[in-house]
Amino acid sequence: MNINTLTATAHALLAPGKGLLAMDESTGTCNARFAALGIPQTVEARRAYRELLVTTPGLGEGISGAILFDETIRQRTAAGVLFVETLQQAGIIPGIKVDLGAPALAGFSGEQVTEGLDGLGARLAEYAGLGARFAKWRAVLTIGHDRPSRAAIGANAHALARYAALCQAAGLVPIVEPEVLLTGPHSLAQCAAVTEDVLHEVFAQLRTQGVVLEGMLLKPSMVLAGDACPKQLTTAQVADATVACLLRAVPAAVPGVAFLSGGQSPEQATRHLAAMHERFAGRLPWALTFSFGRALHQPALEAWAGQAANVAAAQRALLERVASNRAAIGAAVAV
Ligand code: 13P
Repeated sequence: MNINTLTATAHALLAPGKGLLAMDESTGTCNARFAALGIPQTVEARRAYRELLVTTPGLGEGISGAILFDETIRQRTAAGVLFVETLQQAGIIPGIKVDLGAPALAGFSGEQVTEGLDGLGARLAEYAGLGARFAKWRAVLTIGHDRPSRAAIGANAHALARYAALCQAAGLVPIVEPEVLLTGPHSLAQCAAVTEDVLHEVFAQLRTQGVVLEGMLLKPSMVLAGDACPKQLTTAQVADATVACLLRAVPAAVPGVAFLSGGQSPEQATRHLAAMHERFAGRLPWALTFSFGRALHQPALEAWAGQAANVAAAQRALLERVASNRAAIGAAVAV
């Protein structure tokens, strides 16, 4: 493992005023989003959509890294250029989602455990050969009665740590993504308690597996009341609860935290990120940025709607979200 390479990549991903673009939806998830908009669920439609994203003019001014999917990392633009090369030419670091999804956790109804460790070392070596310099693995935890269980927290944290260690051995920066799902009637306080608990377990496992904290990024969910909770909180309350949780559980040696959006509206996710910056500027040990999927490019997907004639409008929609999120993290940009 070359720690200098890992820390250099981590810092490049955290370049001031930039965030990450998560465009790593699995085929199933991408198809479901296409189906909702009446877009054909074909390889070509998925390729065309990802081409639209990676060829957006000026994307590299606000995006440091883009997370690709196995299908996408091998694809090319209509002009025959690999997406990976297109990103590199725009100054964007290519990354890759390497988990294989989260089936049911046996014995714990309603819970999931992320899979993909078998053969992961060889897959990471292949992805590194294809140009990836970082990777992502998502664990999902559900809040409910007696949920998440110790079993789900432990199994998912262990897998995240094993994945992260394998990434670092392969020279890739691991993005460690424990997502506490927004779905449910739980309160903000419950989400805060669960998120803190999960993060403590994740960092304990990372330590046990010998992961170098300086060469990784954390991708957490924000601390929010569940989407079915009658008592929704103010932007400032969400920002304060999220930062308090992170300060308790994320070691200062971690260079950066890059949030997922997790089903918040694009505007909401941006507002929460902006409030964290406004309220805690200069007082946090790690960089705080975005690694949004839906909150960055769902408006672009809707503007595109599968029509070649809408590509420019879709790219404008993407750039508008990028600019808003750059402004949220303190970049001087016109929004
Ligand atoms: P969302 O921002 O849409 O939650 O996606 C981020 C991500 O990478 C999920 O794994």
